Amino acid sequence: MVNFGVIGYGYWGPNIVRNLMSLDGSQVLAIAEKNVTARKRAQRTYPGMKVTADASEVISSAEIDAVAVVTPVWTHYELAKAALEHGKHVFVEKPFTSNTEQAEELIDLAGRKNLKVMVDHTFLFTGAVKKIQQLLQEGTLGKLYYYDSTRVNLGLFQHDVNVIWDLAPHDLSIMDYLIKESPEAIVATGQTHLNGYEDVAFLTLYFPDKIIAHINVNWLSPVKIRTTLIGGEKKMLVWNDLEADEKIKIYDKGVNIANRQGLYDLLVSYRSGDMWAPQIEQGEALRLELAYFVECIANDERPFNDGVAGLRIVKMLQAANESLSRRGALVYL
Ligand SMILES: NC(=O)c1ccc[n+]([C@@H]2O[C@H](COP(=O)([O-])OP(=O)(O)OC[C@H]3O[C@@H](n4cnc5c(N)ncnc54)[C@H](O)[C@@H]3O)[C@@H](O)[C@H]2O)c1
Repeated sequence: MVNFGVIGYGYWGPNIVRNLMSLDGSQVLAIAEKNVTARKRAQRTYPGMKVTADASEVISSAEIDAVAVVTPVWTHYELAKAALEHGKHVFVEKPFTSNTEQAEELIDLAGRKNLKVMVDHTFLFTGAVKKIQQLLQEGTLGKLYYYDSTRVNLGLFQHDVNVIWDLAPHDLSIMDYLIKESPEAIVATGQTHLNGYEDVAFLTLYFPDKIIAHINVNWLSPVKIRTTLIGGEKKMLVWNDLEADEKIKIYDKGVNIANRQGLYDLLVSYRSGDMWAPQIEQGEALRLELAYFVECIANDERPFNDGVAGLRIVKMLQAANESLSRRGALVYL
């Protein structure tokens, strides 16, 4: 049994606590939450639970083996560092830290103490992403051309990071997982309208082998859209994460070039074949992810979404901020 302490019981924290409480191999012994209303909510839901305003009580508790940090991004480093220093394994929310130096320090600290760090890149545990990975690995899509994602809705405005740091970690971690190669360069444009942080932004990432990715993130959209187009040489797919069934549709569509002798001699033919929706695994991704973390602790294994994976995403986010500050300059990674 892995005993957890959870810090932060705002929007996402309750999902972490609920899942850890429902797994066979874990339980939550204490919750730390600064906000009194949220503390009352936690206590009502879990009457016997220790609920405190002071995170250090959770971090220093001898009964706790692992700490989940579910607080705003700017607090991740400090809380995760304190937890590691007290010998606790750490599950940290995305994005891992506010900058790459912090991430490197945490990775080093965890390594020296032989402790696990896992960054919550929840989408990697969804049936949809697993299916897309399988399709790429088996060669069904063929050579990858592009990844184009729209992740927009109204709010939730964050108070410490812009919309890229809030929403794009999902796409960046998915791409990191699917493409396996690091981007070479990044361009980010965006605009601040309300609270000083960019609330609308567009990211372009250049990968090796002519793979290009585009991400549209927006807190000011009248509708919620979670749609990704992935184009390959052999097949193309549309992933609509808001669809209950048939989240992924694969299209046997593409372009064949018959003659490469010169621009004007090109014989372009368009292929338009069948469309089908593959079966994808159901189940709550966060539950699967937390079960995997518990297993990694029990078996002393390194999670694939560890601090190093978290650092790769923070690197991209940092480069995006640099590009934003220079109105879309190309930033090499
Ligand atoms: N993986 C996902 O899909 C997903 C979804 C939503 C949010 N998140 C991440 O979860 C984290 C939290 O986001 P949220 O939307 O729940 O934010 P939130 O503001 O709703 O909740 C954060 C809570 O942490 C508390 N807090 C802050 N500092 C604290 C401290 N030192 N000690 C105790 N409590 C403290 C705040 O009072 C607040 O209630 C962010 O990093 C966010 O990116 C991830």
